[in-house]
Amino acid sequence: MSIPEVDLVVYPDECDAFGHLNQASFLSLFERARWEMLRGGPGMDVFTRNGSWPALRKTVIDYRAAAFPGDVLRFQQVLTHVGRTSFTMRQIARRARDDTLIAGAEFVFVCIDRDGKPTPIPQAFGDYMNAGRSVLDNVQRITVNGVNLAVEVQGEGPAILFIHGYPLDRSIWRAQIDALEGFRRIAPDLRGMGQSDAPDLGYSMSIYAADLAALLDVLGVDEVVLCGLSMGGYIALEFLRQRRSRVRGLVLMDTRAEADTPEIRRSRDAAAATAKERGAAAIADAMLPKVLAAATLGRRPDMAERLRSLMAGTPVPGIVGALAAMRDREGSEALLETLAPIPTLVVVGEADGVTPPAQARAMAAAIPGAKLAIIPGAGHLPPLEQPDATTERLREFLRSLG
Ligand code: MLT
Repeated sequence: MSIPEVDLVVYPDECDAFGHLNQASFLSLFERARWEMLRGGPGMDVFTRNGSWPALRKTVIDYRAAAFPGDVLRFQQVLTHVGRTSFTMRQIARRARDDTLIAGAEFVFVCIDRDGKPTPIPQAFGDYMNAGRSVLDNVQRITVNGVNLAVEVQGEGPAILFIHGYPLDRSIWRAQIDALEGFRRIAPDLRGMGQSDAPDLGYSMSIYAADLAALLDVLGVDEVVLCGLSMGGYIALEFLRQRRSRVRGLVLMDTRAEADTPEIRRSRDAAAATAKERGAAAIADAMLPKVLAAATLGRRPDMAERLRSLMAGTPVPGIVGALAAMRDREGSEALLETLAPIPTLVVVGEADGVTPPAQARAMAAAIPGAKLAIIPGAGHLPPLEQPDATTERLREFLRSLG
């Protein structure tokens, strides 16, 4: 479940002499959106019936595009920080008609009692705002481009966005999300996988990248280090093509820059037919021996079993959509040499049979200044198979960015 969006119309008297929504009215629209949200949820008196008041302490707004009378603005609201007496709410306003991002804002509140002293946040308010996320695992539900995504967000600091591969979910980054303190770790389930919605249609590298950019907008993240594994690497490269200025570092893990060969394209169609006829379990059975190193399969039958059930639980539309998106993706060879000055790290499992070390070496050599890390004892999934070694290489890289 996620917190419902709120639609508000821009009225002429909120606009300046040039017909744009004026700056003061931006603030009042954000405020109205918050009250509307409470009206539809725990009630507009959720604070006063607890003898408290949410006093606004700080506001930061990014104005992105003009809005005009008659525009319907769609507001999304999430809590980005919750303390005992204070909380931070992030609000995003998009024009409903064309999804243009109009503004994003952060509001810091302190709950105060009648004497103006800080007082705990009312339980009913915290429960409502957390309905879309579990406090324990930091998972939020955020709607972007009409699709509701599950995203785990942990920590403060420079942001790193983890992009998983096919047909997986954010759980492959468990160890890295838990360990990389000092960084804001953002790990979504891509559309069609994990706990995110799986629409029947609407899959391409450019749509996955647009989802991620919209997610970063909602979370108020301008610049990010992208860390993509396999299909996640294809998406990272697409993100770079579209939104290069937002990328402050790049990790390409067990992935490749080349488009599919005709033979691989045919195998994507065959896999899609298998998924439709026999379900995700048939895909899981075929993939498992390819993605884990033989050593991992022998040493960690529990991990292999978990991975099998994760893949077998992927919705068929998500599998079919990802296969088509991979089949139709552009090659990124020409992009590689343009990547400098974006610091880049190429990572590969020593025993990766899907995107082997030779391919990773060639890719690193084609990116000016890129570093290469080969993870011993790992196949196609180093973050899972060799979590500590992978985390260490990521930590070193993130720290080197300053
Ligand atoms: C992945 O791990 O994301 C896929 O195996 C990549 C691919 O099939 O090209």
